[in-house]
Amino acid sequence: MRHLLSTADLSHAEAVRVLDVAEQMAATQQREIKKLPTLRGRTVVNLFFEDSTRTRISFETAAKRLSADVITFSAKGSSVSKGESLKDTALTLQAMGADAVVIRHGSSGAPLRLARSGWTSGAVLNAGDGTHEHPTQALLDAFTLRRHLVGGGDAADRVGADLAGRHVVVVGDVLHSRVARSNVHLLHVLGARTTLVAPPTLLPIGVETWPCEVSYDLDAALAGDVQGPVDAVMALRVQLERMDAAYFPSAREYSRRYGIDAARLGLLPPHASLLHPGPMNRGLEITAEAADGARSRIVEQVTNGVAVRMAALYLLLAGEDA
Ligand code: NCD
Repeated sequence: MRHLLSTADLSHAEAVRVLDVAEQMAATQQREIKKLPTLRGRTVVNLFFEDSTRTRISFETAAKRLSADVITFSAKGSSVSKGESLKDTALTLQAMGADAVVIRHGSSGAPLRLARSGWTSGAVLNAGDGTHEHPTQALLDAFTLRRHLVGGGDAADRVGADLAGRHVVVVGDVLHSRVARSNVHLLHVLGARTTLVAPPTLLPIGVETWPCEVSYDLDAALAGDVQGPVDAVMALRVQLERMDAAYFPSAREYSRRYGIDAARLGLLPPHASLLHPGPMNRGLEITAEAADGARSRIVEQVTNGVAVRMAALYLLLAGEDA
């Protein structure tokens, strides 16, 4: 792996390798001293052209825990708001000697453009591009699922394992979700089944070519009527900031048909987990009771994100030989 742009680029072996290295990283994060010397002397630049809380802080923490020098750049308050192009921004960063560039951008394809352009010689990690992909989010979701669904709670049981035979329901605003697309690809690579559930207006054109099933009926999907019993349900945020028209009649109607609440979680087998990438619209796609309930892995997803991003940075910058 030279860059991490899309989960569709990952082979089965590469995906499992990231999860396995993340297990090792997670183990180091249980220690009193969490910092490793692995990337000492390397520079990681976080380039955020779009708002972010979790992902930006998570990448920053991951790079620091590996002892890299970290420069975090937000478009607001930088020369981007003076109209500077991605190219000139990237050339500036290159002049400062970036070994890795973590980029979040509102345009789908911006990380690929950066990786192919030669504007930077560093590894490019996609931290979310438009409505396209968010590979580290899908990897942390898979890591979280593997921890709960594979083996008897011992890390050694999980190493080398994929998610073969598992079934994940992803419900919500698939149309605007880079998380959904990255998850569908990655879950497929890892051998799991995915069912996407959304109102027809919130499904992208061409979704029938994705490696998953689609349903408009959340209760049927959760009850196992679409692709069998469900091991996890992932709720997606309704991305109101990307909506230029009315995609559903009302918030109340949306919650009634596609919201996750305690009653719907009751349709799932006892072991099944609830995930959400955050930020949540509590009361819209998820109730507070569900988000804070016993099945929720939402806070754990954030914790796991640091270990997964440490693994991604390690594999891209230090390689297999470090
Ligand atoms: C997601 C994103 O930005 O794509 N959030 C995240 O990275 N944790 C999902 C979202 O914004 O709804």
